[in-house]
Amino acid sequence: MRVLVVYESMYGNTHAVAARIGEGLGAVADGVDVVAVGEVTDALLHAADLLVVGAPTHHHGLSTHRSRDKAIAEETLAHEAEVGHDVEVDPDAEGPGLREWFDGLDLGHPLPAAAFDTRPDALPLLTGRASRGIRRRLQHHGFRMIAEPESFVVGDDLHLVDGEAERAVDWGRGLLGHVAQHSPKGRPSEDTAHDVLGGVIESGGRFASPT
Ligand SMILES: Cc1cc2nc3c(=O)[nH]c(=O)nc-3n(C[C@H](O)[C@H](O)[C@H](O)COP(=O)(O)O)c2cc1C
Repeated sequence: MRVLVVYESMYGNTHAVAARIGEGLGAVADGVDVVAVGEVTDALLHAADLLVVGAPTHHHGLSTHRSRDKAIAEETLAHEAEVGHDVEVDPDAEGPGLREWFDGLDLGHPLPAAAFDTRPDALPLLTGRASRGIRRRLQHHGFRMIAEPESFVVGDDLHLVDGEAERAVDWGRGLLGHVAQHSPKGRPSEDTAHDVLGGVIESGGRFASPT
């Protein structure tokens, strides 16, 4: 099973979480591509058996052009430096956002999928969750959610809180188990290959489409 992890990130935290999720998945999948949203190609999409998508929470949901521009504006960065936050703009921060990517997405066949976000440590009611908007868009495009949207926590210093990187590895590693549980036929398709997660799932190859 090949996995495509697509992320958007302004200050690198969602990028780092995506990389860690990819690391966890890499232990159990046949191949993992971790790609900024602006770098996703049709070839990567068509090769994927599972799609994992993540973004930072902006204004209670997915970023917009304006929120991304604001995040990387000179004046915002100067303010963050002034209050002692050593933020670095992610290399792909100036690229397109997931919102625009979803608008143009036309894969043609549904895949199992999962969503994650980064946000501060507070009640979702107060912070909002980008992963909910991602889930809604994935479902709108016919993707089959295999796990609840997950959030990874960023501290007041705008860096991932201790332990979140490791949790991302574990979440990624666990995702393939969810694919098996949410497979339309209740089990993986014919070319089942290897036993992972202590026999929780047998995986490999593509999953049969719903009948
Ligand atoms: C313009 C902007 C708007 C934000 N709005 C919210 C928000 O509504 N709720 C929230 O919990 N966090 C908000 N945040 C904090 C982001 O969630 C946090 O910076 C993000 O998780 C960091 O991820 P990144 O390093 O990948 O950009 C906002 C950040 C920016 C820059």
